[in-house]
Amino acid sequence: MTDSVHEPVLVNEVIEALRIQPNGFYLDATFGRGGHSRQILARLSQLGRLIGLDKDQAAIDYAHASLKGDHRFSSFKSSFAKLDDVLPQAATDQGLDGILFDLGVSSPQLDQAERGFSFQNDGPLDMRMDQANPLTAARWLADAEEFELRKVFRQYGEERYAGRIAKAIIKQRQIQPLQTTTQLAALIKQVAPTKEPGKHPATRVFQAIRIRINQELQDIAAALPQALNKLKPGGRLAVISFHSLEDRIVKQFFKKQARGDDYPLDLPVTADMLNPRMKIIGKPLRPTQAEIDLNPRARSAILRVAEKMDSRP
Ligand SMILES: C[S@@+](CC[C@H](N)C(=O)[O-])C[C@H]1O[C@@H](n2cnc3c(N)ncnc32)[C@H](O)[C@@H]1O
Repeated sequence: MTDSVHEPVLVNEVIEALRIQPNGFYLDATFGRGGHSRQILARLSQLGRLIGLDKDQAAIDYAHASLKGDHRFSSFKSSFAKLDDVLPQAATDQGLDGILFDLGVSSPQLDQAERGFSFQNDGPLDMRMDQANPLTAARWLADAEEFELRKVFRQYGEERYAGRIAKAIIKQRQIQPLQTTTQLAALIKQVAPTKEPGKHPATRVFQAIRIRINQELQDIAAALPQALNKLKPGGRLAVISFHSLEDRIVKQFFKKQARGDDYPLDLPVTADMLNPRMKIIGKPLRPTQAEIDLNPRARSAILRVAEKMDSRP
């Protein structure tokens, strides 16, 4: 099995957003193949520290193999939804200077047919980022009720033929359960002739199943408040999303933290009562056309950055 490279997205923008302090303490919550981590390490002194997390064992094996000689770096296999449990005490005591989330899947996950993420490669319907997760896509497709299939395709894929596709899957699995990515892609193509230019009709359903299997949106929602707590005042949080469902969670979280506490509408509230916890830095950033030309997978990326504010005494 060869490991394809992952071209990191918005690297310069991320590095600038994190304002790397040479002696700082950083977290790359989605190590992947370490594209961003290497750029962070290149700017750290011998006193700086970087932790890399990933829920995919292949990413962590790669981290160990490629960065094992670097005493500034340590890595852990974990979901970023469990930051409170996995970050070493030193990170909590000292506070982090910056945290990066580069959400979604890596190129090796997409490109390796046996991971089952892509309808372009024939492989088992797996789609687990964390190989210890007992729920594969094949198992979910074999067991889920029709209404759940429909709901997931609609909510996580914004798929307009969700009902038809769910029905076709139920019918198919009475004959033989779906086993491979190409079987599923062919079935979707038969019943949902999407005419979105440049998009395979299975794109949305594959995205939806992946989000469901990996609990992607729940993990992001759980991780952001923990990340904020781990930052020092002045520490930066940078999040790259790849679709609107992810981005909405990030945007709403940033907005709420920047606005501060909620009060009943009829209460007169002064600015100093609000207690905002974050300041939004700049406008959301998207890749340049030059980056998209070099790396088409960057095309839907959007980077949001915020800074933790001093808490009131
Ligand atoms: C887009 S890739 C990151 C690529 C990385 N920035 C690089 O340059 O190589 C996203 C990575 O996040 C990991 N990931 C996704 N959700 C995660 C979660 N909840 N916890 C930990 N890692 C996660 C995936 O396994 C994948 O390796």
